[in-house]
Amino acid sequence: MRSEELRIGVFDSGLGGLTVVKALTKVIQNADIFYLADTKNAPYGEKTPKQILQFSLDITQYFLDAYKIDILIVACNTATSAAIEILRERYPHLIIIGTEPGIKPAIEHTLTGKIGILATPATLSGEKYQSLANRVANQKNIQLFEQACPGLVEQIEKGEISSDETKKLLEQWLLPMNENGVDTIVLGCTHYPLVGKTISEIMHCDVTLIETGSAIARRTLDMALQRAHKNHGKCTIQMESTGSIDCQAAISILGQETVCHKINIINH
Ligand code: DGL
Repeated sequence: MRSEELRIGVFDSGLGGLTVVKALTKVIQNADIFYLADTKNAPYGEKTPKQILQFSLDITQYFLDAYKIDILIVACNTATSAAIEILRERYPHLIIIGTEPGIKPAIEHTLTGKIGILATPATLSGEKYQSLANRVANQKNIQLFEQACPGLVEQIEKGEISSDETKKLLEQWLLPMNENGVDTIVLGCTHYPLVGKTISEIMHCDVTLIETGSAIARRTLDMALQRAHKNHGKCTIQMESTGSIDCQAAISILGQETVCHKINIINH
């Protein structure tokens, strides 16, 4: 790793991964963060694993060519599930950090043993999630209520965080969880913390929401420190998207001015 700023590439299908970037900016200094929102190909959660893998490979290569990144953060549960193993094989010298539904912290937290898992259809049907869930299935007193949320990412990208349509979507998934005594919900998609308030309202606040942004940020810092990163100084964010994106929404998530450019990645 070079002695100057750390270069971190972070990607997701849209605004969701900014929830990870926000957590990152709280712990990382002396770093340049390059965020890519692949909105041209969103939502990932309704694409095939093969397509998601190709998007992830193209973006990683772009980050390496354009910015010579030291660390890649796949700020997307769906892309982690479809691509992380191949990315690690293909780029053995790059530090690669993925995002996985926080089932472990949810188990530590639940009192009723009933845990809701909200994720995209692709994440829930992926092998990675299935093997995680199978391990949990052997634990006594833990019951998982899995719910795929098609359409929710699009609502969030449109800025419809608490519109009637978004509430209706969420209610059909959450009210059965509420009736079943779910007390902890894993937000298994980085977009979902952006509707966290609406979820809590529907669950009458009797619920703890588990997101993984801060754990990813801490892990990133640990990995960087192991490679002689000096964690004091400024942290900059540059944001790009492959299609249209609501820059105002991005700024309000990050709580700071961010320049947003549109770029063109050649998809293979
Ligand atoms: N935010 C992503 C995730 O964590 C992707 C959502 C999507 O594009 O469907 O799964």
